Amino acid sequence: MKPGCNGTTMHPAILVTGGAGYVGSHTVISLLENQSEADPFDIVVVDNLSNAYRAEGQKKPEALVRIEELTGKTIYFYHADIRDAKALSNIFENHKIDSVIHFAALKAVGESVQKPLEYYQANITGTCTLFETMRKYGVYKLVYSSSCTVYGEPQSLPMNEAHPTGDLTSPYGKSKYFCEEIMKDLCLSDQSWAIISLRYFNPVGAHHSGRIGEDPMGIPNNLMPYISQVAVGRLPELQVFGNDYKTVDGTGVRDYVHVADLADGHARALKLFRQPGFNGFHAINLGTGTGYSVLQMVKAFEEASGRSVPYRVVGRRAGDVAANYADVALAARLLAWRATRDLPDMCRDTWRWQRDNPKGYQA
Ligand code: NAD
Ligand code: WQD
Repeated sequence: MKPGCNGTTMHPAILVTGGAGYVGSHTVISLLENQSEADPFDIVVVDNLSNAYRAEGQKKPEALVRIEELTGKTIYFYHADIRDAKALSNIFENHKIDSVIHFAALKAVGESVQKPLEYYQANITGTCTLFETMRKYGVYKLVYSSSCTVYGEPQSLPMNEAHPTGDLTSPYGKSKYFCEEIMKDLCLSDQSWAIISLRYFNPVGAHHSGRIGEDPMGIPNNLMPYISQVAVGRLPELQVFGNDYKTVDGTGVRDYVHVADLADGHARALKLFRQPGFNGFHAINLGTGTGYSVLQMVKAFEEASGRSVPYRVVGRRAGDVAANYADVALAARLLAWRATRDLPDMCRDTWRWQRDNPKGYQA
């Protein structure tokens, strides 16, 4: 073990980039909640706070402050950008990094069309800088946040990992696809690399405590935070983007997956690294395998919250597909993972977070 700066010993550490954000914070709390005394590790978060809130005078972002309160454990936090090679090296010097979970990225599909350079810079240059630093310090185990977005327009449903990727329109989607291609090349170039690219479908929900949740800055782009902000009275009504798709009720169908289940998927990916000889690039879907329409989501949320969610049907949103949902067989086989939380769980937990934190972390 490396000696800590205060004379204590340091455990092997998991570096979590973007760990102050939505999926990252839920993964951090899940890892800490499930930590066993027999297998200690440190959690080190690097985040530039471009999409995470830190209260004035606080050293750590609010999500991490609350995780420390809930778990009684310490998280090492670095306020830095993953494009900053010096800052990353400093982290690897200070901790005994064993593996990396890489969440840090810009993620707004529409914004990425307006600001492609910013998206390629953050998502691709940042990712390459991280990989260079990992290689410099001999760290080769990586879990990457990928997305069902890499599949583009579904050619068949449910979508399995063999579905073609890369025929994409948005710079955001392309950045996820390009990173997957880079990771494949890395694994071909050096057998030391072990990379699991988790292709999330639509993450929703919040920690069951109601203290940690999704806190989008400005008007939400995604359906679930929009619905919950309407239910709590922050927004007047939901706009339903099209009801003329060939789906159960004409509205878009997606595979919503509870963020706590996603978090568990990351923990299982880390376990896979312990299998002797495990290496190479592996893309794995994380979803439930079931699709729900926009109107089914509205109804389920109304039932869970006891609030009404007024909506108005408007035109389709550019770039939207009618339906997608995952084939989750590979996650079951490789990770022994499956989603255990259902739609009422997702709505109930989202509502608890929204009701208790109507203004998100800033309240
Ligand atoms: P998020 O915005 O809540 O979290 C990302 C975090 O990364 C934020 O805290 C942000 O401040 C930080 N960050 C961004 N750029 C950075 C940089 N250059 N250096 C350091 N930190 C940086 O997003 P999320 O929903 O938690 O998504 C996490 C990952 O999952 C992303 O890679 C995203 O592309 C992927 N993903 C998200 C979804 C989704 O719908 N939420 C779906 C599929 C994939
Ligand atoms: C879901 C459904 C909308 C908002 C996005 C990204 C994807 C991935 C997951 C990161 C669709 C409808 C939405 C609203 C609506 N993210 N909708 N009114 O588009 O499936 O996926 O998040 O990788 O890359 O594109 O999710 O939540 O935006 O939309 O009617 O105000 O809800 O049309 O049918 P999407 P979403």
